[in-house]
Amino acid sequence: MGAGKSTGARSLAAELGAEPLDSDRELEQRLGEPVESFFDREGEHSFRAREEELVVELLAREDAPVVALGGGALGSERVRDALSAHTVVHLEVDPREAWRRASGKGRPLARDPGRFEQLHGDRVALYESVADAVLPPGDRDTLRRALPALRALESAPPGVRLVWASAASGEYPVFLGRGLIESGFFPPLGGRRFVVTDENVARVQRVEGDERIVVMAGEDHKTIHGAEHVLRALAQGGAERGDLVVAVGGGVVGDMAGFCAAVYQRGMRHAQVPTTLVAQVDSAYGGKTGVDLPEGKNYVGAYHQPSAVLCDPAALDTLPPEEAAAGYAEVVKTALIAGGGLWARVRQGGEIGGPEIMGCLRTKLAVVAEDERDGGRRQVLNLGHTVGHAIEAATAYQRYRHGEAVGIGLLAALRLSGRDPLRAEVAELLGARGLPLVFSGASVEDVLAMVERDKKREGGRVPFVLVEAPGDVTPGHEVDPAALRAAVEEVHEG
Ligand SMILES: NC(=O)c1ccc[n+]([C@@H]2O[C@H](COP(=O)([O-])OP(=O)(O)OC[C@H]3O[C@@H](n4cnc5c(N)ncnc54)[C@H](O)[C@@H]3O)[C@@H](O)[C@H]2O)c1
Repeated sequence: MGAGKSTGARSLAAELGAEPLDSDRELEQRLGEPVESFFDREGEHSFRAREEELVVELLAREDAPVVALGGGALGSERVRDALSAHTVVHLEVDPREAWRRASGKGRPLARDPGRFEQLHGDRVALYESVADAVLPPGDRDTLRRALPALRALESAPPGVRLVWASAASGEYPVFLGRGLIESGFFPPLGGRRFVVTDENVARVQRVEGDERIVVMAGEDHKTIHGAEHVLRALAQGGAERGDLVVAVGGGVVGDMAGFCAAVYQRGMRHAQVPTTLVAQVDSAYGGKTGVDLPEGKNYVGAYHQPSAVLCDPAALDTLPPEEAAAGYAEVVKTALIAGGGLWARVRQGGEIGGPEIMGCLRTKLAVVAEDERDGGRRQVLNLGHTVGHAIEAATAYQRYRHGEAVGIGLLAALRLSGRDPLRAEVAELLGARGLPLVFSGASVEDVLAMVERDKKREGGRVPFVLVEAPGDVTPGHEVDPAALRAAVEEVHEG
């Protein structure tokens, strides 16, 4: 209710040159009276039976490519079965916004705000379970703009889902599902494809392209020099602005290839095919691209949103266990930011698969949708990163993987947040994956000095991201230097 289904369906149907069907409206016609009066007189059970009968009929009609379904129709198993032959799009809506739109119109289930919110929460789980595509709250034309991606989904392997990502500077489809890479699926973006990958990934993953540019693996090569190699290969391959860079690899390849796309001939498009857990849950989305300088990590870069992301959890099958563990720290970070269902799943300590990756990427996308350029909210994604980055820098990027350092940084952030039981729980989760809980190879002083040099420093102070509780994470906190020292000492081996 109130998600904009009818408006969205109209815009989508217009694009397809068809008439949209609205199950509520069709039902009223068949009942010969408004839904409200039938519902109030005959009761919900009887209403749902009539709705089910009608919706199953509508879904069988060949002349109706777009059907807006009443919010309660999915409660029926017959309806859910009938939907399996179709592409189901879930239009997300904030419950308060939905209430604002749906209330005061006499709708039977939108008369009491408490009940409405409860119903919204209960139904979301059901929608999620059947949706092939999820669109975040957008404007009335979002659905229409997503049409090519929705169509592409029809040729993707079964089970692949689409999430529509939007940020101030652009929007793009994220396809998530096992077998995407092997199937050769690629959305219709046009242009020649310049696949950029690293030497390790090139051995195990095959994404077809018109040209292939292989870079050396590892953070050491995420440099201006590495970028120059890619840029020159693009130029030598005759890449044009309308072509596409396809980054196939972890965060290193993704950041560097995305950066090259951002600056090559002042900007060409890129797609991300993340093959590490770090990249699948975090770095492939949000448009931060860049390379390192000897003076600092990610010191040179650009915001450049991808044109598509193809996330295939099967790619992780070949990932070395230490890399998977490093990615796990980012999963824990993201679950702390998200709270709710994602944190509930992650705190169980089980395997990370499609549902958890989906939860993480949607959390990241939601944050970026609010604040693409790190002006405020996006800084929550740096939870654990202030101390984490400092540890990486103080150990010259040689000793710890990014995720490993972030894991230790998370523990420091939770101590600074005064959340001791949560810190203990997180330490247990990280420890169970073999992640380090303390650092060595640099002194506490070195790490504190690196914190001082943090890129996020503003007006001489370094703001910290702190955790009140899972789901309640806020940026911009000033911390007491003595507390910071104690938190770093605690994660220092010695
Ligand atoms: N842009 C962002 O928003 C963002 C966010 C988080 C991290 N990052 C960046 O990401 C980088 C870290 O990314 P990462 O952890 O993916 O590192 P990475 O790209 O170096 O990959 C780790 C290792 O795994 C190998 N590898 C990748 N996929 C493989 C696969 N499927 N099978 C076997 N081996 C595989 C790589 O060759 C590499 O040796 C850092 O540079 C960090 O700054 C960026």
